[in-house]
Order: sequence, then structure tokens, then C-alpha cells
Amino acid sequence: MKDIKDLTVDEAKAELAYLAQEIAKSDNAYYQNDDPYLSDAEYDVLKHRNIAIETRFPELVRPDSPSQRVGSVVKSAFSKVTHRFPMLSLGDVFSFDEVADFVMSVKRYLNTSEEIAFMSEPKIDGLSFSARYEKGIFVQAATRGDGIIGEDITENLKTLKQLPLKLPADVPDILEVRGEVYMSKADFLALNERCEAENKKPFANPRNAAAGSLRQLDSRITASRNLSLFAYTWGEVSQRQWDSQADFFNHLKAWGFPINPNNTLCNTFAELEKSFKKLMEIRASLPYDIDGVVYKVNSIALQERLGFLTRTPRWAIAHKFPAEQALTTIKNIRIQVGRTGALTPVADLEPINVGGVLVSHATLHNEDEIKRKDFRIGDTVIVQRAGDVIPQLVGVIPEKRPVDSKEFIFPTTCPICGAHAIREEDEAVRRCTGGLSCPAQAKERLAHFVSRDAFDIVGLGDKIIEDFFAEGILHNPADIFTLQERNGGDDLFSSVQGLHLENREGWGKKSVDNLFKSINARRTVSLPRFIYALGIRQVGIATARLIAKHYTKFEPFMLDMQNKQTAGIISIDGIGAAMATDMVEFFQEPHNLEIVNRLLQYVKVEEFIDDAQTDTPLSGKTVVFTGTLQQMTRNEAKAKALSMGAKVAGSVSAKTDFVIMGTDAGSKAKTAQELGITILSEEEFLQML
Ligand code: IVH
Repeated sequence: MKDIKDLTVDEAKAELAYLAQEIAKSDNAYYQNDDPYLSDAEYDVLKHRNIAIETRFPELVRPDSPSQRVGSVVKSAFSKVTHRFPMLSLGDVFSFDEVADFVMSVKRYLNTSEEIAFMSEPKIDGLSFSARYEKGIFVQAATRGDGIIGEDITENLKTLKQLPLKLPADVPDILEVRGEVYMSKADFLALNERCEAENKKPFANPRNAAAGSLRQLDSRITASRNLSLFAYTWGEVSQRQWDSQADFFNHLKAWGFPINPNNTLCNTFAELEKSFKKLMEIRASLPYDIDGVVYKVNSIALQERLGFLTRTPRWAIAHKFPAEQALTTIKNIRIQVGRTGALTPVADLEPINVGGVLVSHATLHNEDEIKRKDFRIGDTVIVQRAGDVIPQLVGVIPEKRPVDSKEFIFPTTCPICGAHAIREEDEAVRRCTGGLSCPAQAKERLAHFVSRDAFDIVGLGDKIIEDFFAEGILHNPADIFTLQERNGGDDLFSSVQGLHLENREGWGKKSVDNLFKSINARRTVSLPRFIYALGIRQVGIATARLIAKHYTKFEPFMLDMQNKQTAGIISIDGIGAAMATDMVEFFQEPHNLEIVNRLLQYVKVEEFIDDAQTDTPLSGKTVVFTGTLQQMTRNEAKAKALSMGAKVAGSVSAKTDFVIMGTDAGSKAKTAQELGITILSEEEFLQML
């Protein structure tokens, strides 16, 4: 082989063409046919030489070069692609009776009594793509999106070695090949193991993992994820060279696309049935998830006669499998505390293979579900993996209950922070009341505390809060106000070390100064903001304002709540007993009190002076907001209405004076109409202001 530094441009060009072809051929043998003919070392030599030549002649890099598959830098968003031919979906059926109806309807439509041939194909549980080739060169790929507009995933799809980047010379000038990207069960399990090792949230199922991997702005991540694909249909084609689905598969194969080995041409209904049963049998042993079988009229001429309904073809249907189930035992039941304080029971299971995926936990949803289905530790249960959801427990096998099975006693304290966990009368969920101090809720609480309607501290975004929490820099909102002090110089006389936030990656003196400025600006804060910032359940900004108006100072409010004196608060129009209970609960929790008291040391809460105007079209009126507002957030609008002297209610009743309706308004608008209440548009509302 010639030394790269001695190659002429023409020689380099020729060799790059040769290398692209050789490497594609070898990829094809390896990924499509499972029959590699090059050793790993030989393959690497080709790839290295390709890169070395490209490094010397960057202008010669070919679009189908193997170097184009490694992925590239992060983009900020996917651009949109309008499909020239919409990407349709399929109607679903669940039984042979319905399949028979479908076949009948096809025959009726075609006005024939003869048997019609169908292609039966496994329905791959992944996500569909469309890959566009112009003059045989791969130029663009898109996701399905809503079927009309998808997202540009060209760079990401390119990283899949199974995707040919260059097609043989005889393909149509314009050709869109469509199919499914999926992650094999084995790759999914390996990926989740990596996630768990790195303390990242695992994916719920292979399809989510495939979607998460394909929709990466940094296609290098996609490249690292081992995605696979099957091709099964086409979009725009300048000149169709096939007259049946079976024939199309022959073309795909010749062009180097992976096609599913279980696609079967069926000439009779009996053959369709047989193909379904066979796929159902081998389903668990397939290396990837399938969730049904697709039947397509084989002849394109007939497909064209049959045409489409709105979103689905008349010539194809999906026959879905029932969810996969298996038996296993409950080893333990434990409680997880979510970011909002909800206590969720989780069953640890004897690990079991459900349709090829190892399942070791399942959610039990809530207290009542455990009682209703009578799940006990030691029980044998039916586990189900249904498409896109987390594994579910369908029920118990009572005959298999061991004598020493243990009933699960749902805790009334939070297993994370020890605070009371309470359940409101008409709620299914039990919640931890240690809001401000519970580590499970801490990040959420911190983010709420600094949010715009609360303390409005700029410079503490979600990511920073997450990092600060993980590093022990912030545990709770009070810690925010000691940041500056803690950041100060190192204390030479003790072991205290300053935080030196300015030395963090991506930070500098200026950003630290700005953060402290923003924090210090809030050392005096209005009473509604302060109450709202505490994150008491059900207490939004409008309620916080009502409380502020009633008490005018924080201390008497806190005292009443500590002493469970709710009469005052319930007398406020717009505050009910359930809300009052939440407030009392919050102030019963010693951890919360400790943090509130610390906060009161650091910040001055202003006395509330009611600036609500009494002489406005809204004063004394009860208003309800519904739908999405365009020019302001719901909270801003509420605050505006309140300052105009209005009362803001959550639901429409005979007492409502105005309903302010944004876009996509739901049932409230309907109720208002029925009750004959004045409905204002956002514009009209703004004019009133
Ligand atoms: S054909 C007009 N064939 O199922 C026909 N779809 O429910 C369009 N899918 O969006 C689709 N395997 O993501 C077809 N062999 C197969 C398929 C398949 C999986 C997916 C695809 C589609 C969805 C429709």
C-alpha cells in the first residue's frame, strides 16, 4: 500500500471510493447477514486508512464515508421535516374475528370473492423513520412526528451501521425507504445496566431506549447506543420498480437494507392465522420486541385501488398481541418517595423474564391498590409488560400463598425523612409533609422556592440546584441565604473551607456576583411571595395573596397554623377546609418549622398592604381562568386580577362573575356557557385592566 503522504489527489479519491465500498460490504456482512468475512483487525486497518486519507484530503470526504457514522456535535434543536408523503399509522385489531372482518371489507371494497394475498410482517416495537436517497446517496432522515411533519434525524440515523449510505446505481433517483429503528433486548439490558452503574434513570423498555437514543441532539450518543433497523415500506419514489410488497422486499434486500426474516407471504386466510400463531410462539425468543403482526395486501395495484382512510391505509392492519405475562413472587414491598412527596409502594420481585426482558420491580401504585388486589410479601403474582408501560402486577394466585405471607402495613411516616405522611380523605396518595426538609423533595422545593412568582432568584437553574444539592452545598431554601458567607475566604484558624463558586466549571466571578446580587435583592420579600415560596400543598400564588390579605403579617398566620386555629383562614372566601388542613400539617412538622425560622432570620418579610383597587370593573367580582393564555402566564393573570380587587376561584359556579378563556379551554368554558356567565377573551380581560 502506498504511503498516504505520497498519494495524489486522484489516487486518494479512488482509494476513498474503494474503502467506502469495502467497509460498507463488510458492515453488511456483519450486521445484516451475521456472517463477517473480515477479522476485526483487518476491518480496523481499512477504517484507519480511510480516516488517515481523509485527514490529509478533507475536501475529499464522501457522503457515504464510514467516518460519517461516528456522530457529531450537539445541536440545539431538531429541525422539522415535512414528509412529502405522510407517514401513516395502522388500524389495530385484537382477534382473528376482527382480522376476518378486515379481509372481508377488503374483498367487498374490491368487489371480489377470490382469496387475496397478504404479506404478514412482525410489528416491530420501535419507532419509525423515513430515509431519503437522491441518486442513490443518503441525504436525509426524519422521524414520523405527527405523520405530516417529523424531525430531522439525518446525523443520528447515519450512525446506524445497518443503514446503507450509498445504494446501487439502478435505484430510482428519488427513493424514500421507511422502517423501524429498534434496540435489541440484549442492548437494552446492557444500556440499563450502564445507566444504573452511573446512577442514571434506566429506560422503561427497549422502545423508550431506542427513542431516547435516536432523539439525541448529540449524534455521538446515538452512535454509542447500538440501534438496529428493519425496512418495510417506502415514501416518495420517482419510479417504482416493484409491483408487490414481496417484490419490494427483494429490492430492499438487494440494496442492502435489513428486512425481517419472518416476513411471510400468505395466500389464504389460514396462512395468515398460521403466521400469527408462529410469531406469537417465537415472540419471546426473538432478540427484539414485537407487539403484533402487520398484514398488508401484497399487490400494489390492489393497494392503490383500496387507498386510504384519514390516517390509515385500507389495505393494511395491525393484529396486536396480548400483553406478555409471567409468574413470579414478591420478595419485598418498599416505599419510594417522589419529588412531590408522594409515597409510592414498589414490589421487589424475584427477577423474571417477561417476553425477553428481565423484570425485577413493579409499581403497586398506592395503598388501596395493595388492599384491593391483596398483594402480600411472599405472594406469587402475575406480572405483565404491556407495550410502553412499566411492568404491572395483574393479580395474585391465592392458591400459591405461603402460610407465612406477610401483609404490608403502609407507613404513616416518610421513610426518607421521618416526617408525617398523610392522606387526604378523597385522595389515593399518601404524602410526606416534610416538604422543606425531605431530601426526596428537596430539589423540587428549592426550584419552587427560587421560581419567578416565589423568590425569583436568577442564576439558580434546575441543573445548578441539582449539582448543589448533590454536593451538599444546598439542602434547603434557608441555605441559599448563607451561600455568600460560605463562599468567602478560607478560615485560616479552622478547617472551614470557602466554597469558591467562582472556580466551578462554567462559572466566574461575574456570574457569582450576579447570583449574590439576585439573592440579596430578596432579603426583603413581600408576604405573598414568602408564603407561596414555602411550597405548602394547594397554596398557589392566589391563595398566598388571600392569606396575606387576611393576616397582613407572617407571624400570626404561622402561629394560628401551629395551634391548629383554622377558623380564621377558613373564613376567607376561596379557602376551604382541605387547604387549611394542608397548611396546618405543614406547620406541624418540626423540620419545616426549623427551616422557616431560619429563613425568618435571613429575610425580612414585608407587611402586606392591600394595593388592590376597589374601584375597578373587577373589584368584588369572582373570576375563573381557563385554557392557555398567550400574553401572560396564568399566575401573572391571577395576580393582576387580584390587584384589581377581584377574587380568583378555581372552578365555575353560579357565584362566578367572569370566566376568562384562553385557548384550548376545557369543561369550565362549557359550564360557564350553561350557567350563562360572561366569558371574556384574553384581549377583553387585558382591556379591562
Ligand atoms: S407499515 C401505511 N410495517 O407500526 C403503513 N409498520 O401502527 C405504515 N410498524 O407507525 C406502516 N412494524 O412504526 C408497518 N412491518 C411494519 C411495522 C410497522 C412496526 C410500526 C410503525 C407504524 C406503526 C403503525
